[in-house]
Amino acid sequence: MSTPPRPGVAAVVAGAASVRTAPSLVDLSGRVALVTGGHRGIGLEIALALAEAGAVVYCLDLPAKPDDEWLAVQRFAGALPKVPGQKNARLEYISGDVTNQAMMWSVVEDIVAREGSIDVCFANAGILHGAECLEYPAEDFKKVLDINVSGVLFTAQAAGRQMEKLGIPGSIILTASMSGTITNPNQHWVAYNTSKAAVGQMARSLACELAPKGIRVNSISPGYIFTNMTRSFLDTQPGLKEKLSAQNPMGRFGRPDELRGVAMWLASDASTFCTGSECVLFVVL
Ligand SMILES: NC(=O)c1ccc[n+]([C@@H]2O[C@H](COP(=O)([O-])OP(=O)(O)OC[C@H]3O[C@@H](n4cnc5c(N)ncnc54)[C@H](O)[C@@H]3O)[C@@H](O)[C@H]2O)c1
Repeated sequence: MSTPPRPGVAAVVAGAASVRTAPSLVDLSGRVALVTGGHRGIGLEIALALAEAGAVVYCLDLPAKPDDEWLAVQRFAGALPKVPGQKNARLEYISGDVTNQAMMWSVVEDIVAREGSIDVCFANAGILHGAECLEYPAEDFKKVLDINVSGVLFTAQAAGRQMEKLGIPGSIILTASMSGTITNPNQHWVAYNTSKAAVGQMARSLACELAPKGIRVNSISPGYIFTNMTRSFLDTQPGLKEKLSAQNPMGRFGRPDELRGVAMWLASDASTFCTGSECVLFVVL
């Protein structure tokens, strides 16, 4: 396989024509992606961004069938302008549970059988469950770790196994959280915070093991983003949103669409020298 010409100054010195190559760095035309937790919230927003960048995106989530909002996003993605010679960007839905290792592995085998590739994997599905630390019920604690930690590993394995098999220089991105590094005062999130710290460390471990195979693994750690997950605890604690907003220098929660840029950057060739990194999207005062 010939090495593609390097962009930038080296290309100029080699006499390249004067064209803008920088914007195409995040072009994902012809790539295939999996996003878990892709039925709503951050996962769906990332899935749409990847499709807008040109990818075929498989959204995996628990509901047996996608709802009207997801279907509207699918129609939007399907109507995007076509890129000649490339697979048409689109969204597909798969009902599945990330805690089922065998199913996750076979889901990605099936994607590869249909599309011929898996280039990007966002292990994003997660849950938040609160209980006081001294009373935290064993079953609830195990459930959070099962979805937020084991499920993330099974997703990354499923994609990584196929990337290795096909020699694809893929990008695996794990959704961690600021709660893996800081704690959230007055919240009873010992299980969630523990799980997200594990995800950050998982990304670094996977990155070291998979770098020799050409596969990159990074994590994103958002601060508070307004989604159904945050709504579920904000609704029960009046005034909390204002209090938590004040802990951020920008004085507000983030929107899911504000994660589009980092998602496209990590998924694409714009970040080929980035692995084992945690992209932190918060500042707490
Ligand atoms: N919203 C925030 O402020 C915030 C901040 C930091 C990190 N995160 C993380 O971002 C990710 C997405 O969060 P969100 O805010 O979009 O939440 P959300 O609740 O809106 O979406 C999470 C999705 O994961 C799915 N899911 C849960 N268990 C699953 C399973 N076993 N198998 C497959 N899918 C499953 C849910 O059905 C849901 O669609 C989570 O990992 C969350 O911990 C969120």
